[in-house]
Amino acid sequence: MSPVLKLTDLSVSFNTPRGMLKAVRSVTIELNAGESLGVVGESGSGKTVLSRATMGLLPRTAVRTGTVEYLGTDISNYSAKEVRDLWGTGMAMIFQDPMTALNPVRRIGDQLTESLVVRLGMDKKAAQEKAIALLKRVRIPDPDAMMRKFPYQLSGGMRQRIMIAIAVSCNPEMLFADEPTTALDVTVQAQVLELLSELRKEFNMAMILVTHDLGVVAGHTDKIAVMYAGDVVEYAPTRQLFSNMKMPYTEALLKSIPRLETPTGTRLPVIEGRLPDPTKDEPGCPFANRCPYVTDKCRAEKPPLTDGGNNHFYRCWYPIGGAQ
Ligand SMILES: Nc1ncnc2c1ncn2[C@@H]1O[C@H](COP(=O)(O)OP(=O)(O)O)[C@@H](O)[C@H]1O
Ligand SMILES: [Mg+2]
Repeated sequence: MSPVLKLTDLSVSFNTPRGMLKAVRSVTIELNAGESLGVVGESGSGKTVLSRATMGLLPRTAVRTGTVEYLGTDISNYSAKEVRDLWGTGMAMIFQDPMTALNPVRRIGDQLTESLVVRLGMDKKAAQEKAIALLKRVRIPDPDAMMRKFPYQLSGGMRQRIMIAIAVSCNPEMLFADEPTTALDVTVQAQVLELLSELRKEFNMAMILVTHDLGVVAGHTDKIAVMYAGDVVEYAPTRQLFSNMKMPYTEALLKSIPRLETPTGTRLPVIEGRLPDPTKDEPGCPFANRCPYVTDKCRAEKPPLTDGGNNHFYRCWYPIGGAQ
């Protein structure tokens, strides 16, 4: 069976006044039915651009090369309308801020039933019933009352549950969640992630969970792609990644995860230094200036994506623990 999603050599650049800005560099990723992939990296590493390129949501200033295949069909050159026809039933998405995705002047009930009527051709009454069932499924306490509410009347966590209900309402094959819990507090964050994981299994959806927080993907994904400056720099099954981490960058990300037992106010080690300028192509490894293990070779030559076996790929001349 074809993978649900296959990205091959996907690159995205933006035409900017300062020159071409390379946001995503030749990314190759495959996702099977029901599988979940975490895409992790600091802010600015290209995660959102990668997701938007996949969903056909790039602005006009973007130049994309490479291919996006959905269930074996190349959708790279689909028109905006053709891609939109895939949304809902094929691909669905959840953003960091549900307020921007929900219509502020329409009741939750109307927003939920709309896609059921339009996309699944349900009649009003059946859609209403299904909407209430979905609200129950995402653990909204009083679903009937919720149908009549407006988005501004809800907490961030409740709004995100509504977005999830809308996203799964038409049984999509795959779900994109871009920083879905970043705006929520830690307890609500855990509940929302748990809910997403349950629904993914129940609906057998493939999922791409995009986050800057390696801790978020640890318990909720089958495999992880770590992005840095537009490159996938480490790609491995989740367990393999955590037990045998190869990239100094991934290690640095891991050290910056807040832990529950960390007293509030404790300063976490942040990764020192900044991402390289994405409009310049400097020689060497893009992480060289920030890497504790840097050598002359790192500054001179960019490491290729190396196959370390066990479906583990990395871009480093001196991987942690040696090259296997
Ligand atoms: N519309 C745009 N025009 C120009 N540059 C953009 C645009 N969108 C994103 N970028 C740039 O692309 C890079 C990757 O951004 P993004 O994918 O949003 O990062 P992330 O989601 O990992 O924080 C950044 O350097 C960002 O400034
Ligand atoms: Mg982003």
